[in-house]
Amino acid sequence: MAHRGWSGIAPENTLSSIKLALEEPKIHAIEIDIQLTKDGVPIVFHDKILDRTTNGTGALKNKTLAELKALDAGSWFDEQFAGEEIPTLEEVLQLVNGQKPLYIELKQVGDLYLGLELKTIELIRRYGLEDQCSLISFDHKSLQTCMKIAPEISRTLVMMGSPLLLAEQVNEIQATSVSMYAEYIDQLMIDSLVRNGTEIVIWTVDDPAEADRIASYGADVLFTSNRPDQLWTREAAMVQV
Ligand code: G3P
Ligand code: CA
Repeated sequence: MAHRGWSGIAPENTLSSIKLALEEPKIHAIEIDIQLTKDGVPIVFHDKILDRTTNGTGALKNKTLAELKALDAGSWFDEQFAGEEIPTLEEVLQLVNGQKPLYIELKQVGDLYLGLELKTIELIRRYGLEDQCSLISFDHKSLQTCMKIAPEISRTLVMMGSPLLLAEQVNEIQATSVSMYAEYIDQLMIDSLVRNGTEIVIWTVDDPAEADRIASYGADVLFTSNRPDQLWTREAAMVQV
């Protein structure tokens, strides 16, 4: 799964990074992050502040859509992407349009973005993409809200914690997938996840040796990666040997 689009070769969470992930057949799914603009529009962006990945400064939540659209979200990565805009969730849904599964991470923290869940779900429903999207969050209350509004859209709980806590929280929100931090994954954790019967997503794996370590635990997992090409190059090399 391409993390923030194919963010190793194009600026993260932009239409360019998502287009590249769509075009590459070896990429199975795409992950993006969303927040709300000051005027309440779901927009695709990772950090809470604008400074690292745009020519703007300050908190995203204090800017309107028009202000955010005027920023350059590409030059920081490479001049060839100069003028790249921050996309809205609606633009990404129109682009992806069910071609690949889209994992939409709600960057919700408590009540930081009031209405983020409902607005996201309304857009997914407007485009009829309920079966092609999964709602992700670290914030399990946010996923509880999603479950109440849209039980039909799958949920992915992002976790760093223990398998015991995990099973409890996964069952509480009837998650179809869990997304685990790669460094915390060991055989015990994998066995517990397999017993729980949920799809297993592992983030963020760019190092082929790390992918081999996790694969050796013997479960089917979906790796989230900034550089998925580094993982399949290794796979090809192993097959040749
Ligand atoms: O999907 C989980 C992963 O994307 C969480 O980390 O910081 O890249 O959103 P982050
Ligand atoms: Ca994310």
